[in-house]
Formats: sequence, C-alpha cells, structure tokens
Amino acid sequence: MSITLLRVDQVRNLKQVEIEPHPQLNIIYGENASGKTSLLEAIHLLSTAKSFRSHRIRTVIQHDTDKLTCFARLQNASHMHQIGVERSKSSTEIRIDGESINQTSILARHLPLQLITPQVNSLLEQGPKMRRRFLDWGVFHVKHDYLKDWRSFHRVLQQRNASLRQRLSQQQVVAWDKALLDAANKITRCREDYLAALTPLLEEYCEILLGQTPELIYQHGWPADLDLATALQQSFGRDQERGFTSHGPHRAELVLKFNGVPAQDVLSRGQLKLFISAMQLAQVAHLAREQDQQCVILVDDLASELDRSRRAELIKLLAHTQAQVFITVTEASLLEIDEGQGHKMFHVERGTIHEI
Ligand SMILES: Nc1ncnc2c1ncn2[C@@H]1O[C@H](COP(=O)(O)OP(=O)(O)OP(=O)(O)O)[C@@H](O)[C@H]1O
Ligand SMILES: [Mg+2]
Repeated sequence: MSITLLRVDQVRNLKQVEIEPHPQLNIIYGENASGKTSLLEAIHLLSTAKSFRSHRIRTVIQHDTDKLTCFARLQNASHMHQIGVERSKSSTEIRIDGESINQTSILARHLPLQLITPQVNSLLEQGPKMRRRFLDWGVFHVKHDYLKDWRSFHRVLQQRNASLRQRLSQQQVVAWDKALLDAANKITRCREDYLAALTPLLEEYCEILLGQTPELIYQHGWPADLDLATALQQSFGRDQERGFTSHGPHRAELVLKFNGVPAQDVLSRGQLKLFISAMQLAQVAHLAREQDQQCVILVDDLASELDRSRRAELIKLLAHTQAQVFITVTEASLLEIDEGQGHKMFHVERGTIHEI
C-alpha cells in the first residue's frame, strides 16, 4: 500500500498540511527548521501512533494547541484504506476506515514502515535490544502469528521472574518452564528462518553499497552447546539470586561482522549508514517478496555523512525496493534523481508544504 493522500495538523510547526505523495519517490526539501522532519514524524505517527523523536507527545503537539491529527489514504491495486491518528496529552484515538481501534499493531500492519535517520547507527552502537527489535520487525510482518507467540513468551517470562524474585521453590518456578520453552523455541525458529531468508538480499545490497559482504551471527540467548531446558536448569541458583531468567530469546543477539571484525569497529560513519540502510532495505524487499506488501521508507537528511556518488547509489537502491520513499534534504540539488524515475518534489517553508 502507498499513501495517496496525507493530511497533517498541529504536528510541531506543521499546520493544515495536505499533500498527495508519489507512490515511489518523494523529495521533501527546505531550510533548517522548516518542518521536514516533522512531516516524517507525522507519517511515523500513522504507523505506530508514536513519534521517533520524543516519548513525550506534548512536545510533538503544536505549542498552544491541545491535540495533533494525522490522516492518510492508503491505496494499492485492489484496496483502499483510510487511517487516522489523533493524540492529545491524555488520549490516543486510532481509526481505520472509520472504526476506532485500540491496538497499534493493526496500524503497523496497514503501514509497515522503516526509518533511516542520521542516528541510524544506534542499531549497532546500542545494546542487543535494538537488533532483536530489527529481527522482530521483520518476523512480525511476514509471520502473522508471531506477535501472539512473542506476547505469550513475555507473559510467561514475567511470571517466572516474579516467582524467582518471591523466592518460591524450584518446583514452583520451573512450573512455568514448559510454556516458556514452547514459546521460546517458536520465537527462535522464526528468527532463524527469517535471518536465513534475509541474508542473500542483505549480501546483494551490501555488495552494491559497500563492495563487501557481511557475516551475520545469530546468538539465540543461551550457551550454544546446551539446549534451553538444560541452560535454565544449570542457571537456576544464579537466576534466583538475581531475580530474573538469564537465558532465553529475550537475551538473543545479532552480531554483524566484516572480515571477522564487528561492523561498528571497522566501518567508517558513512559506511555504517549505508550498511544499516542496506539491512533495512533488505527487510523491505523481503516483505515485498513474501507478502506482496509495499512498505513506506522515511529517510531523514539523506545527505548527511554521504558523498555524492553514495547518495546516488542509495537513492537508486531505495527506488529498487518498490517502497514508497520520503526523503528529506536541505537542498534539492544535493540529490540526483535518474531520468525516468517517477517522483514528486515538495518544498517546505515555515510549516507549509507545496508540491513543486
Ligand atoms: N511543539 C512544537 N510546536 C511548534 N513548533 C515546534 C514544536 N516542536 C518543534 N517545533 C519547531 O518546528 C520547526 C521544524 O522542526 P523540524 O525538526 O521539522 O525542522 P527540519 O526542517 O527538519 O530542520 P533541519 O533541516 O534542521 O533538520 C522548528 O523550528 C522547531 O523549533
Ligand atoms: Mg530535520
């Protein structure tokens, strides 16, 4: 699905913005502080009901107003949907085709979204949670019962951890283990299958953008020479002391290396940006292939860290994924768009947006 109509009201400095984006490439350009990132933030709100810049929605809602609203019409060859998100300081209202819903996961299914920002390197520089989230995004979109397994695993894990903290007997704690193992094994299998399917695409994209191939190592969250049941048994005493379960897919890690060295220790900043973009684009292409579903990709400040030819390569690859892409940049001349590449240009100026 792509966004064919977008209305944004009172998201930061944007007031009564209405645009009809191109189904492929959209270039959003304008001076610093004109409202470009705010537009991407509004699209992000339509997929997650959240901002990517702040946890505090009151900072996103326009000063001196009490709520923000975002609306999109989504269209593919056979379907049309309308989605809307309204947020005030105290409430969130999500509507799909006029019906009120209370699960943000339904929004994400309608509008799968990838975000590439100048802070994109946090995927490698921060803790393993970010990499697990990366994998889970992909599995969630291609395997629709994954969310159920993921939730049941975390529910059981919480209960087991509570039993550990209350110093219940070993028998009472391990009573949770069958349910925990069932869900843990499902999650692990799904993540491993997903990674296996994603790897060839990622290799292809890294070859184009970086001229080298990464190595992906999934560590499933317990010692490689043990099964999870044994690992849980062996760590019982320590887990009881600490009050949490130290083995399981909630401790999984995705290690990314080039020539045996962790990517973040060997790649330059521009290369890191390209590598993480390649990871995200591989996810988008995989989803398109598996589910015939078109993603939206938001690229904030594409030009940062990248030289002219890398910018052109990245734009070419973004177009190749068949996603609907929104790119922000301070000056349109920073981007070279191939002749024949379908696109629209939008100029942002003090909170208003005009198609050029
Ligand atoms: N809650 C708010 N209400 C009104 N204006 C806000 C609010 N929050 C931020 N702003 C202002 O909105 C303007 C647009 O910010 P935005 O980050 O979208 O700019 P930008 O075009 O992405 O700039 P840059 O090129 O520097 O990244 C800024 O001037 C900012 O101070
Ligand atoms: Mg910005």
